[in-house]
Amino acid sequence: MTELGAPDRPLRVAIVGSGPSGFYAAQALIKADLAVQVDIFDRLPSPYGLVRLGVAPDHQKIKNVIGVFERIAAKPECRFIGNVTVGRDITVDELQRHYDAIIFANGAESDRRLNIPGEDLPGSHTATEFVAWYNGHPDYCNHQFDLSQEAAVVIGQGNVAIDVCRILAKTVDELKHTDIAQHALDALAESKIRDIYMVGRRGPVQAKFTQLEIKEMGQLEACEPIVDPADLKFDPISQAEYDDPENKSAKRIVPILSEFADRTSSAKARNLHILFEKSPVEIKGDSRVESIVLEQNELTGEPFSVKARGTGATKELPCGLVFRSVGYRGLPLAGVPFDDASGVIPNEQGRVLDDGAPISGMYTVGWIKRGPSGIIGTNKPDSQANVASLLEDLPKLQPCPKPETDSLLKLLEERGIRVVSFEDWQKIDAAEIELGQAAGKPREKYLTVEEMLATLG
Ligand SMILES: Cc1cc2nc3c(=O)[nH]c(=O)nc-3n(C[C@H](O)[C@H](O)[C@H](O)COP(=O)(O)OP(=O)(O)OC[C@H]3O[C@@H](n4cnc5c(N)ncnc54)[C@H](O)[C@@H]3O)c2cc1C
Ligand SMILES: NC(=O)c1ccc[n+]([C@@H]2O[C@H](COP(=O)([O-])OP(=O)(O)OC[C@H]3O[C@@H](n4cnc5c(N)ncnc54)[C@H](OP(=O)(O)O)[C@@H]3O)[C@@H](O)[C@H]2O)c1
Repeated sequence: MTELGAPDRPLRVAIVGSGPSGFYAAQALIKADLAVQVDIFDRLPSPYGLVRLGVAPDHQKIKNVIGVFERIAAKPECRFIGNVTVGRDITVDELQRHYDAIIFANGAESDRRLNIPGEDLPGSHTATEFVAWYNGHPDYCNHQFDLSQEAAVVIGQGNVAIDVCRILAKTVDELKHTDIAQHALDALAESKIRDIYMVGRRGPVQAKFTQLEIKEMGQLEACEPIVDPADLKFDPISQAEYDDPENKSAKRIVPILSEFADRTSSAKARNLHILFEKSPVEIKGDSRVESIVLEQNELTGEPFSVKARGTGATKELPCGLVFRSVGYRGLPLAGVPFDDASGVIPNEQGRVLDDGAPISGMYTVGWIKRGPSGIIGTNKPDSQANVASLLEDLPKLQPCPKPETDSLLKLLEERGIRVVSFEDWQKIDAAEIELGQAAGKPREKYLTVEEMLATLG
C-alpha cells in the first residue's frame, strides 16, 4: 500500500477555521518533508478569523500578518474553502471520508458569563458582540448599542477590555481612516458617552492588559485616564509580586498607571476611570441597565496566584451600558468532543480526546484547543507543536476512502452552498479596498455574506 505523504498519495488534511492557528497549522504541514494537500474551511467567505474581525480597526499594523497568510494560501498544496460551516453544511463524518486527518482551529466565538443578576438586561452586552459589530462581522451587523447613555462600564482588564474602552473613547477623527464598519462609525459619531469605567477584580499588579495598550489610553485626543493613587499602594502580596525581578509586565504597567494617577485636571470631553479590586455583583434596571453594583474585593493567596475575595462592601454606580469583557469561550461543534467546563476541545498535545483516549486522525489548535488567550504570534509555535503530533502519528493514520476534494465540493454545490475559493476572496478583498479608497479607509468591509457573494456575480 502506498504510504500517506508519498508523492503519489499526498497526506490530505482538512483544517476547520482560517484564523491564525489554522493558517499556521497549514504552514507547518506544507513545510514538513512530505507530500500534502491542505484544505482550509471557514464558515465565512472571508479568511483570517479574529485578525479581520477581532483586532481593533485602529491597530492596522497588526493586520500586516495577513501577508504571511496570503503567501500560505498561494501555495499549490493549500486551498481555501470559504462560506462552509463545518457541522452544518458538511458533517465531520463527511470530512473524514475525504481527509486522512482533520485539524479543528475554529477559535472561541462565544463568551464567558458573569452569572450575576441582571446580566441579560438590555444595555448589558458582551465585548464579543461589540467587537464583532464595530469590525463588521456579518453575524452582528444588525446589533444595536445605545450610545446615547452618558456612562459605560467595561468589566475586565484584559487587552480586549482596553480595545472596547478605546473605541468608545476615541473621536470620529481618530477612527475615520481605519477599517471600522461604517455603521459603527456613524453610531459612535452620535455617542454621548462621557464616563467609561474599566473595572478589574484584582489590583494593578495583576492587570492583564499590556504596556503599549494601556499607554495608548493616556494619548487619546478627547479622553483622559483617571487612576486613584490609593490603588497604587499595594498590599503585601501584590508588593511581593511586583518586587519579583521576573515580573517585568507589572514593572512596565505600574509606572504608566502612576503617571495617570499624577494627572491633576481633565479638560477632555471623556474620562476613563480605571477601577481596581472591584467585582460586579448585580446589574440593575427596570427594563434596561440603569446601574451596576460593585463589591469591594481584597486580595488573598500567594504572589502570582492572587485571588479576589469580596469584602461585602458594595457601591452602586449609575450607568446605561455594560460591556462584559471577561474572556471569549469556545463553542461545541457537532461530531467533536467538547469540554463544557473549560469551553475547549479536550486534547493531549493537540490530539482530540474522547473519554481520555485519542481519536485517530483528529487534532486541534489555537483558542479552541487551549482556551481564549494568547496573541496572534502565540498560535504559531502552538500549531507547529500540534502538527508535530499529527506527523508523529502518520504511520498509524487510516487513509480516507475518498482522497479528493472535487466530490466534496460537488456535494456542497448540491446542497446549495456557494463555496468561496481564495481567488473569489481576493475579488471580494479588492472590492472592499476599492470601496474604502473613496472614504480614505484601508477598506470598507461588506457587512453581509450576501453582499460579499454579490461581488462574485
Ligand atoms: C477582540 C480581540 C482583539 C485582538 N487583538 C489582537 C491584537 O491586536 N494582536 C494580537 O496579536 N492578537 C490579538 N488578539 C488575539 C488573536 O486574535 C488570537 O490569538 C487568534 O485570532 C486566535 O486564533 P484562532 O485561529 O485560534 O481563532 P480565530 O482567529 O477566532 O479563528 C477561528 C476561525 O474559525 C472559523 N470557524 C468557526 N467555526 C467554524 C465552523 N463550524 N466551520 C468553519 N469555520 C469555522 C471562524 O470563522 C474563524 O475564521 C485579539 C483577540 C480578540 C478577541
Ligand atoms: N493588542 C493586543 O495585543 C491584543 C488585543 C486584544 C486581545 N489580545 C489578546 O487576546 C487574549 C484575550 O484577551 P481578553 O482580554 O479577552 O482576555 P484576558 O486577557 O484573559 O482578560 C480577561 C479579563 O477578564 C477578567 N475576568 C475574568 N472573569 C471575571 C469575572 N468573573 N469577574 C470579573 N472579571 C473577570 C480577568 O480578570 P483576572 O485577571 O482576575 O482573571 C481579566 O481582567 C489575550 O491574550 C490578549 O492579550 C491582544
